[in-house]
Amino acid sequence: MHKSKITGLGFEVPEKVVLNADLEKIMDTSDEWIQSRSGIKERRWASEDIATSDLALGASKKAMEMAGVSPEDIDLVIVGTLSSDYFFPGVSAQLQDKLNLRNVAAFDIKAACSAFVYCLSVGDQFIRSGMAETALIVGAETQTKLIDKTTRGRDIAVLFGDGAGAAIIQTSNDDSGILSTHLHCEGKDMRNLWMEGPGSAPGVWINNKQAIADGRLSPFMNGREVFRNAVTRFPEVIQEAMDENGLTMDDIKLIIPHQANNRISQAVAKRMGIDMDRIYSNIHKYGNTTAASIPIALTEAFQEGKIKKGDHIILAAFGAGYTWASAAIRW
Ligand code: UT7
Repeated sequence: MHKSKITGLGFEVPEKVVLNADLEKIMDTSDEWIQSRSGIKERRWASEDIATSDLALGASKKAMEMAGVSPEDIDLVIVGTLSSDYFFPGVSAQLQDKLNLRNVAAFDIKAACSAFVYCLSVGDQFIRSGMAETALIVGAETQTKLIDKTTRGRDIAVLFGDGAGAAIIQTSNDDSGILSTHLHCEGKDMRNLWMEGPGSAPGVWINNKQAIADGRLSPFMNGREVFRNAVTRFPEVIQEAMDENGLTMDDIKLIIPHQANNRISQAVAKRMGIDMDRIYSNIHKYGNTTAASIPIALTEAFQEGKIKKGDHIILAAFGAGYTWASAAIRW
């Protein structure tokens, strides 16, 4: 069994920058509240004519260029998203078509903020089993089209942003690569972070005017509960990744967490007894981009020279479901 390794990375964000000051004009919020509660200064919003698959395509092309692979080399496409272009099929189908890939397997994984690590894990299993040799793994969102951009939705509206990140993973023939992945879910608390409709459950189908009026067709979050769970699950799943590979915190060059809130990352650093410079953060620029946040952060960390050959890094995610996940990687 050969593990997989990341050979290409890329990301794409929409051009439109939305500052905290811009949000002050459309809802009752303040730059001070947003920065002090989350660390976010600005985020990107996709314009009406940009769909999730467009951002996914831009990110994928860059990852393919870095890896030096052409479309015919790719034998698997997995996309993590909760804001697909259409109700069905998944973004993976549009992405596959836009890349001129023919007949290779393509599917979406809807695991919210943990989706990229879920996708990476599945792709890694395909490569380990010999089912695939070169996989395109993407996290992409244009979720700001779904959010309630009024004072009613302000707790969510100020946090989220759009973007996409992609990785090419390929069979590893040396000791570098994805050492292990760890996936978890606890569905009993899913109502703390969800979007009810449109869905097949009673009362939330697309034509239900009351559900729309009640805001049930926009994301809802019980922020404090989500925060409380996040600061427990992040350290747990990071520790799990280290234990599995006989690593200690001293061996870890960088943790790339899902960018949910800088205060969550600070709490994780404190609980794990490490400085914040070991936990990558770019949330000030992009906000929380759900499935896209880890691959965008990983790409930027790599481009900034923060990850070098031989380094151990850990990707860690927590989000709706609840889902949480980690990946231990030797670069
Ligand atoms: O990616 C998925 C995972 N997501 C997360 O991990 C997010 C986890 N949660 C959080 O990051 C935080 O809970 C938030 C940033 C969402 C909120 O921070 P908080 O310190 O927990 O604030 P809060 O929800 O307790 O709200 C405090 C106050 C409330 O007013 P009152 O009741 O004290 O009068 C809110 O109504 O802040 C008010 N508030 C706002 N004020 C200005 C809520 N949203 C806003 C806003 N601007 N955008």
